[in-house]
Amino acid sequence: MIDPTQPQTTAAAPIFTDWQSEHTRDWGHAPIRLSHRLHQHPLFSFDALSDLIDGYPREHYALVHMGAQGSARRTWREGDIGGLSGHKVIEAIQNGRMWLNLRNVAQVDHRYRDLLDQMFTEVRDNVGGYETYGRTSGILISSPNAQVYYHIDLPGQSLAQIHGKKRVYVYPDKPPFLTPEQLEGIALYEVEVDVPYEAWYDEHAKVFEIAGGDMLHWPLNAPHRVENLECLNVSMTTEYWTEDIRRNQMINMANGILRQKAGLQPRSRATSGAGFWAKAAFQAGVRRAGLLKQMRKAKRPIEFRLDDTTPGRIIELREAAE
Ligand SMILES: [Fe+2]
Repeated sequence: MIDPTQPQTTAAAPIFTDWQSEHTRDWGHAPIRLSHRLHQHPLFSFDALSDLIDGYPREHYALVHMGAQGSARRTWREGDIGGLSGHKVIEAIQNGRMWLNLRNVAQVDHRYRDLLDQMFTEVRDNVGGYETYGRTSGILISSPNAQVYYHIDLPGQSLAQIHGKKRVYVYPDKPPFLTPEQLEGIALYEVEVDVPYEAWYDEHAKVFEIAGGDMLHWPLNAPHRVENLECLNVSMTTEYWTEDIRRNQMINMANGILRQKAGLQPRSRATSGAGFWAKAAFQAGVRRAGLLKQMRKAKRPIEFRLDDTTPGRIIELREAAE
């Protein structure tokens, strides 16, 4: 009989198949590659992913069309999958240059939530009580040669590769690659991809080529960018919070408001002590007053939809309306 007061041991096989002591040592301190078995899980077969797309709520996905690798100008336009079936959507991505992010998949479908929870239970057990909360996950299906521009994320992150291959560049988490002002700007305005990037940064990046069965984890806020190789890619991204990450976020908010709205030059990023608690209360007050909403950019408009007759072609909605 199950004792509800006792933690249940899961009968499922571990997600991480080769956790080493170096992974424990480096988790959160350096970019690391781990081995997982999600790529063999039935929930990540193309049939299962097609079924998932078929019923996916509109408000939880983003379809993004981007510029070619190496092009100087960043383009990022959002679209709609139209009336295409899941299989047709995957075929379109296979033939186009875009990515589909099934955001919040753990909230949309509890079977993926169970996997995400199991993954972070294993992390906690391997990394001495590393407690996470507010975990979310997205499934990214992206075209051959698609790219994700250089950017910084505020929550903790990892990237599990499921199908296909990609090259991931992870940059140092210090200036000029990452500055406090950039973190504050992202916290205040919620635009991750407007961070400046120079080609020479790559000389300082740790570069990973990953395939199904690889997972990457990197230090908090480490800038990164991604280039797909010449094949369809499926990845699972996870985001999470810890108490330390939450405190960093409060500092980003408080210092950002002080710098941008009060013209001050906050220097401390301490996440404990009297100065920290004063900033924590300050930013909470500003947030409660709803003042940040006006500072945030409007959502991107939906500019295109997939063509259901030519896989990979997109139709401009403006054209279609004319
Ligand atoms: Fe990211």
